[in-house]
Amino acid sequence: MFKAPRFRSIAGLALVGAVALGLGACSASGGGDDASGDGKDIKTIGFVAVGPEGGWRTANEKNIQDSFSKENGFELKYAPATNGDQNSQITAFTSFIDEDVDAILLSATEATGWESILERAKEAEIPVVLLDRGIEPNDADLYASHIAPDNVGISASAAEWANEQFPDGGNYVVLEGPPGLSVVNDRNKGWDEKIDSKLTKLESQSANWSTEEAKSVFETILKANNNNVQLVFAQNDEMGLGAALAVEEAGLKPGTDVKIITIDGTKAALEALAAGRLSFVAEYNPLFGDTAIDVVNKAIAGDKVESDIVVPSVTFDSPEAATTALPDRKY
Ligand code: AHR
Repeated sequence: MFKAPRFRSIAGLALVGAVALGLGACSASGGGDDASGDGKDIKTIGFVAVGPEGGWRTANEKNIQDSFSKENGFELKYAPATNGDQNSQITAFTSFIDEDVDAILLSATEATGWESILERAKEAEIPVVLLDRGIEPNDADLYASHIAPDNVGISASAAEWANEQFPDGGNYVVLEGPPGLSVVNDRNKGWDEKIDSKLTKLESQSANWSTEEAKSVFETILKANNNNVQLVFAQNDEMGLGAALAVEEAGLKPGTDVKIITIDGTKAALEALAAGRLSFVAEYNPLFGDTAIDVVNKAIAGDKVESDIVVPSVTFDSPEAATTALPDRKY
């Protein structure tokens, strides 16, 4: 029997430390303004962001923008991608280097293709901090730090729960995010390393983080397999909710006929878990703005920072766990 506690914390490799008080420090690259009212320099930060993508992204980018506020000694320049296009991110990144900002935050829309622009930032002595998304190849010399929850550990935890739920095996489907993303590769890695061979993967398809696309993709898979699918591993909440709609359209009962696992831990997913439409929700904690401030202040001051900072996350494995957690959820 799966003896999951009501919540299970997925400890990271280098848990975030307490938030240091970022002392105003003149920017190493001289990009800081002088006046800030309290005698501290305002640090100018370029945020090369993904932009609107779903509940998790909205929560994460709002938390970063709220954290890097004037009151905290920052001027944040927010640059969301145009339709998820990496070229628009590289254009924004380039302009931040030309403006000689004090530091750059990057949530990459693609895993590859960053080496040359990161080299340019390094030559300009502008520290870069990766938020959420990693880069491939993962050359830690090209950035100051990568801050994210542990994708491999989170999906491994989901696989362990699935193994306990299906001791005699069953058929499953994976609904992935966009191909090639570091988080997609890591979620597949963690799952594949732990899932029991008694569970059979029928299909693994991208539904691009989208509820509508996941509903359509899973409807097709259910029909093609005469509804003989017992489990869905959806790599984010929106796709898991789309799979639940497909299950219901097929006249089946989510949670009973098909168990659905999702990653992110948004309110919508926890409400669906409380209602029995989802069966397991793994948080991918988006609220790490305080940690990012601490890392950025240290990097600008030239202090050593951890190259890989893991944000703790929890998992929810029952309607009761979701109901208990919902009143305090912040996204
Ligand atoms: O990179 C994190 C992923 O991107 C989240 O799991 C997903 O919801 C978002 O779109």
